[in-house]
Amino acid sequence: MVIRKFYKKLVVPFFEYHLGRPLHKPTVYLRITPFCNLRCLICDDWRADRHKIRRQKKNMLTTQEYKDLIDDLAEFKIQRLQFGGGEPMLRPDLYELASYAKDYGIPTRVLTNGYLLYKKVLAQKMARVMDEVWVSVDGTDPRSHDIERGVPGAFERTIQGIKNLNEVRKKEKLDTKIVVAAHISPMNIFNPRKYMELMESLNVDSILFTPVYTGHYGQTNFRTGIKNQNDIKRLNKMIDRIRLIYDKAKIPIQTYYISLNVAKEYYKNPSIIKDFKCYVGGYGLGFIETNGDVYPCTAYTRPMGNVREKKFSEIWHSDKAREVRKSIKKLHCGGCFHLQAQKIIYIT
Ligand SMILES: C[S@@+](CC[C@H](N)C(=O)[O-])C[C@H]1O[C@@H](n2cnc3c(N)ncnc32)[C@H](O)[C@@H]1O
Ligand code: SF4
Repeated sequence: MVIRKFYKKLVVPFFEYHLGRPLHKPTVYLRITPFCNLRCLICDDWRADRHKIRRQKKNMLTTQEYKDLIDDLAEFKIQRLQFGGGEPMLRPDLYELASYAKDYGIPTRVLTNGYLLYKKVLAQKMARVMDEVWVSVDGTDPRSHDIERGVPGAFERTIQGIKNLNEVRKKEKLDTKIVVAAHISPMNIFNPRKYMELMESLNVDSILFTPVYTGHYGQTNFRTGIKNQNDIKRLNKMIDRIRLIYDKAKIPIQTYYISLNVAKEYYKNPSIIKDFKCYVGGYGLGFIETNGDVYPCTAYTRPMGNVREKKFSEIWHSDKAREVRKSIKKLHCGGCFHLQAQKIIYIT
């Protein structure tokens, strides 16, 4: 088991990177909507102006186009299909698309802010079509979560949503996994021990901690919210507190311990990203924007092709994709600490 994990997580990515070609099938991340119902301080998805929104709306892939894409992804035997946004629950065909993928036997995952899961009927639909539901919960303090998420009552609704998911999976004997994702920002009040206790009481399967980072996320941007040295101190303190709970954690923590160290180094000196090697972009992950543009990851800004013109499977092995992988090696993307921090060997 450990050897297999080591092989999959480290050996394969290492060879992929050095050969410049993928040796295993990727997880494909569909950003199915750029729109959002929350107003997070560290994410720009809700900040788009009217013109951008109109343009994006007009260009979004339709349900049928997504189904055609899923036909291709099934034939290509991708590892997993991940739905995100913006807020993916704002697209009413989310469940239809996930169910379509599931019928092919493709494992499904959704990243949601959970704000709409308080509606039992939606929690039920979600639990039935997703193998993994990742819900963002940024702490245990309702006020801090709501400030962070920009909408009063967000915490309460999201927690109710997790309870609803639990109820459905118990009642219908579903194997759906519930994962909670917390971003760690200078604005949130984060007590890791209390967080762990809350998630235990909510019967959550695993936890992901993401220290905030900055950069592109598809057609939008992420921010760190760091304004001064005090913010960095606060962030580092929170990260140190998280590191203390690893030994006692009763729920698996998906964030590699090493990536928390990387985050601390990054806050001290963001230019250290130039020393990273990215083993993820264009190998383990393919990211498809709402208009069908294919990227090697969430941060890269030049597309490798568009699924309206070519099949994903062709794009993934095209000359253009090879060029993009070479350019990532030279860090023309600017580098980022997020994805590779979860998968890397950090080379100093
Ligand atoms: C872009 S959101 C999309 C899905 C959904 N709207 C949500 O919030 O869960 C995916 C994840 O990115 C996280 N995120 C947003 N801005 C971030 C940032 N600046 N740094 C790190 N994570 C961030 C969110 O908290 C969320 O868990
Ligand atoms: S992090 Fe998620 S919930 Fe928050 S604004 Fe961005 S997309 Fe919306």
